[in-house]
Amino acid sequence: MKVLVTGGLGFIGSNFCRYMLAAYPECELINVDKVGIGANPANLQMIENNKRYTFIKGDICNPQLINRLVHQVDAVVNIAAETHVDRSITDPNVFLQNNTVGTFTILEAIKRHNHKARFVQVSTDEVYGEALEGSFTENTPPKPSNPYSASKAAADMFVLSYCKTYGLKASITRCTNNFGPYQLPEKLIPKIIIRALRDLKLPIYGKGTNIRDWIHVTDHCKAVGMVLEKGKPGEIYNISAGNEATNLEIVKKILTSIKKPESLLTFVDDRPGHDVRYSLDSKKIRDELGWKPTEIFEDALNSTVEWYVGNEPWWTPFATDAILHPTPWKRGNLN
Ligand SMILES: NC(=O)c1ccc[n+]([C@@H]2O[C@H](COP(=O)([O-])OP(=O)(O)OC[C@H]3O[C@@H](n4cnc5c(N)ncnc54)[C@H](O)[C@@H]3O)[C@@H](O)[C@H]2O)c1
Repeated sequence: MKVLVTGGLGFIGSNFCRYMLAAYPECELINVDKVGIGANPANLQMIENNKRYTFIKGDICNPQLINRLVHQVDAVVNIAAETHVDRSITDPNVFLQNNTVGTFTILEAIKRHNHKARFVQVSTDEVYGEALEGSFTENTPPKPSNPYSASKAAADMFVLSYCKTYGLKASITRCTNNFGPYQLPEKLIPKIIIRALRDLKLPIYGKGTNIRDWIHVTDHCKAVGMVLEKGKPGEIYNISAGNEATNLEIVKKILTSIKKPESLLTFVDDRPGHDVRYSLDSKKIRDELGWKPTEIFEDALNSTVEWYVGNEPWWTPFATDAILHPTPWKRGNLN
């Protein structure tokens, strides 16, 4: 099977490319990435010479490029997106273009040039909005709270409409917060590790009580691989590992792991529209496709911390922004 992966130089995309080449020996990958925010060519240096892997620098919003590439493959996995919620608050238009129009461009290419191709849209739990109690199922209507999640929800609606109207063989995955190696240092876990290693204050939004359900990126990649292989067209699959924790709990676990004091914690103004809690019910993918997470949360978090401690040359080029500008929507929260 030949698969077009988009956004393969980012955090989840690069983990997904490595996972697919290792787990599916027959699989060939074309990775198209515009090398934007979140991309790091070093993420895939180890597979650059793999004969089953090709990299193309390009934008999913470019119909000529995407039409040509879609023509050559059996399936498309759309991972490319602008992903940082804080950035979506200062510059929402970029999110509309890349996340919604980008997905639309791929759907149109499949519709016109390769109608039989499988399509997996990698979406997010954030499209459901906040879960004050209970857990969201795939039947819960989207209620996005910020421009990032709105752009992803809009893309999902286009995917579902193309299944129903044009018969595309597309499925959607919605996963909770990922952690693991190769994540851009402006996201919570790597930012906290890197700042703590340099004994810098650790910014915590509000009171740190916002709850996220964490999953190791490898478990997410396995789930996306299964949906590509066995998922039903027109269906949504929630992906979650049941590791709910407040941001403050996560940060304290990291401090314990690298033996740094809690006096580094500093509470800053909350992010506008900050959802209190996300929580997903992932019974459907477990029952219908046989997926289950295999990583143990505490162990995986400790090994992630060790990875950042041991890979300073990887994150140093990105650390300036992560360290100096912790909250892009409201710079200057920290001195
Ligand atoms: N990180 C999470 O916790 C999480 C959880 C659930 C879902 N997701 C989804 O997974 C996907 C990847 O997230 P991530 O954390 O790896 O993001 P990331 O920011 O690390 O990587 C995104 C990649 O997409 C590329 N890209 C962006 N716009 C593009 C365009 N127009 N054309 C080509 N390439 C483009 C970037 O260059 C980058 O390499 C996103 O769709 C996101 O919504 C992420």
